[in-house]
Amino acid sequence: SGLQREVDALLADYLARKRTDSGNFPNAAFSRSSSTDSFATDESFYEQQDNQTSTNVVMERIQRRKSLQLRNQQAAWQESNDGQSMMEFRRSLPAQKERQSLLEAISQNQVVVVSGETGCGKTTQLPQYILESEIEAARGATCSIICTQPRRISAISVSERVAAERGEKIGESVGYKVRLEGMRGRDTRLLFCTTGVLLRRLLVDRSLKGVTHVIVDEIHERGMNEDFLLIVLKDLLPRRPELRLVLMSATLNAEMFSSYFGGAPMIHIPGFTYPVRSRFLEDILEVTGHRLTPYNQIDDYGQEKSWKMQKQALRKRKSQIASVVEDAVKAADLRDYSPQTRDSLSCWNPDSIGFNLIENVLCHICQKERDGAVLVFMTGWDDINTLKDQLQSNPLLGDPSKVLLLACHGSMASSEQKLIFDKPEPGVRKIVLATNLAETSITINDVVFVVDCGKAKETSYDALNNTPCLLPTWISKASARQRRGRAGRVQSGECFHLYPQCVYNVFADYQLPELLRTPLQSLCLQIKSLRLGSISEFLSRALQSPESLSVQNAIEYLKVIGAFDQNEELTVLGKHLSMLPVEPKLGKMLIFGAIFNCLDPILTIVAGLSVRDPFMTPFDKKDLAESAKLQFSCRDYSDHLAIVRAYDGWRDAERDRNGYDYCWRNFLSAQTLKALDSLRRQFLFLLKDTGLIDENMTTCNKWSRDENLVRAIICAGLYPGVSSVVNKEKSVSLKTMEDGQVMLYSSSVNGKEAKIPFPWLVFNEKVKVNSVFLRDSTAISDSILLLFGGNIQQGGLVSSFALLI
Ligand code: CDP
Ligand code: MG
Repeated sequence: SGLQREVDALLADYLARKRTDSGNFPNAAFSRSSSTDSFATDESFYEQQDNQTSTNVVMERIQRRKSLQLRNQQAAWQESNDGQSMMEFRRSLPAQKERQSLLEAISQNQVVVVSGETGCGKTTQLPQYILESEIEAARGATCSIICTQPRRISAISVSERVAAERGEKIGESVGYKVRLEGMRGRDTRLLFCTTGVLLRRLLVDRSLKGVTHVIVDEIHERGMNEDFLLIVLKDLLPRRPELRLVLMSATLNAEMFSSYFGGAPMIHIPGFTYPVRSRFLEDILEVTGHRLTPYNQIDDYGQEKSWKMQKQALRKRKSQIASVVEDAVKAADLRDYSPQTRDSLSCWNPDSIGFNLIENVLCHICQKERDGAVLVFMTGWDDINTLKDQLQSNPLLGDPSKVLLLACHGSMASSEQKLIFDKPEPGVRKIVLATNLAETSITINDVVFVVDCGKAKETSYDALNNTPCLLPTWISKASARQRRGRAGRVQSGECFHLYPQCVYNVFADYQLPELLRTPLQSLCLQIKSLRLGSISEFLSRALQSPESLSVQNAIEYLKVIGAFDQNEELTVLGKHLSMLPVEPKLGKMLIFGAIFNCLDPILTIVAGLSVRDPFMTPFDKKDLAESAKLQFSCRDYSDHLAIVRAYDGWRDAERDRNGYDYCWRNFLSAQTLKALDSLRRQFLFLLKDTGLIDENMTTCNKWSRDENLVRAIICAGLYPGVSSVVNKEKSVSLKTMEDGQVMLYSSSVNGKEAKIPFPWLVFNEKVKVNSVFLRDSTAISDSILLLFGGNIQQGGLVSSFALLI
């Protein structure tokens, strides 16, 4: 405490010498929290030459004191009883053996690539080793380590874990920052953040002033943000020779990254996991006696919508896979299986998620296998919910008080998160239903059984049709291995793969990098706002460059919506869009909603477009559900306005504590509406944070009830997604510029209409099945299209009128 007083006195001295208000930093959004960053970026500080030398001396003394204080604190913790037992656990991790060689490599090389099996201690240990060694070398106050994570939930959970390992609360020396949320203090030296957060910091601080180490985690996933960040960092390294870069990967394909950085040294952490037995579908059928139902009788697809999309995406793979299975059934390698199993296997449908099969496998585990948690890999939130509901009412799982059923996905609440990591009470079986989030970024220690459905949702993008889609696709061999490995953390385990071995054999080795399979609009905006020069030239320097057609499509789109001018430079709108961490079309709606003081409905629409559809269409009650939705539309020909009404009604019902009842009656998903509600709040916060609306929100809802204005803003966001409407005698004919004739989904409120008394529909997505289908649309007038359709010089209306001719 004596040291603390001295530090405080020095700080007071420093502040007294400083002329300007210290809260007013140029890039306050990011740098205010850490003392060195703040001092370094506070340019006014350097202006006063007279005072500079003496102030520098004071600064150095503050930092030296602070560093010594950190060193004492760290040593005291490590010697305490709790600290000792924590150290003992940490020493048992495989990464510990490489601690010294890792630290040496990092001090001697600007870039180091580290690989090691999941769970060996890369994420929690390596950044901590660096922090500890900096603190031991009395550089604690001047180091600033940033470790990026692809997902927000892992950034949060890992930082909490590391803080606990250091005997601290989160926000002391260890903190986190994810979109719209963060926990860090003045003295935070190790920051876990999402890759997106670091990219946005680069917008305001191009040379990462004050940062000493950047660690990019999970690079093997080849996420778009990570690939992008690597290009930016590669450019930055020569300008910041003292900056250290560490790349961490779960798999062994480190060579590619090493050669990208001119042959950077690679260090592999030999892992330790217990053996895991793989059981493929044939073995599962043999042990559980489950019978697969022939193809055309299967009705457990969940929602009809996803089934249609799945069918389209898997059509090509399906015939290949079906023939592989057929061959295998005939071939001698299944000789040892019972005729019943072989029979059943020939009924296997590659399109089906197989809820009944999963249920049977889980019953088998609960009844016959030893203790241990179960981790089930599903494709997404919808499947997880469907399965969870189905399991909750299954008596074969045993006494409900002895089964702890949990869901693990990107948007879960943090109270739920904690349960996932905690060991349940003895005798209670923990079953975690997860997306591929649990594949590498999250480690649940007590998992002994893994159930792998073999699929994951993957965004894919077809540059020729210029349509993005999010579809469940087969995972790669690398992912399947990864999933299996999750069962061997604490003892030997079992993995149930819900597909035949012969299908595993035809999986791709690795997944295609995201940069090559997603639309590049947001990325192009970022490249421009970071002033990184020509987009095509910049992207040609990526680890693997995207097709030039994809790049051209993205640039063209940004021009059409008015974010780029004709020279591919950012317009004012473009600059604002690049500051918002959402898709450009959603960003544009938010900006327009703020400018036109019509925020409330627009927040609902934007949040609604970011989460799943809140309107549910149960397979057997499709008509009832669709007419329930129709009631919300009030014949105003807009799915988007229907969401606004449904949400407003739910908000009122919640106030009267009738939320669930309201959802039940109206075929709405309470969970989705809750997610929508929280996202709405995040967007509002974001708009306040970027200064687009004022803190008190005095005027921003002045025109919220003006339905035409809401339509106009929807049009501003969704343009160029527009189709013409021609009312024929008994039906409506729709056309878009690229596709010609298009159709509406029957779940759209406009899909039911025999006549639409508006000349245009704007839509947020089209899906190609046999014909092109439009999802969620809003009818608009000529004048709205003229005034809000893209960029007025290009004449939204004029070009769209060509459709009618
Ligand atoms: O990054 P990597 O997969 O190599 O491992 P990690 O995330 O650093 O985890 C190392 C070990 O820390 C895990 O095996 C867990 O035993 C433990 N851990 C934990 O207990 N709680 C967490 N929230 C994270 C990790
Ligand atoms: Mg990790």
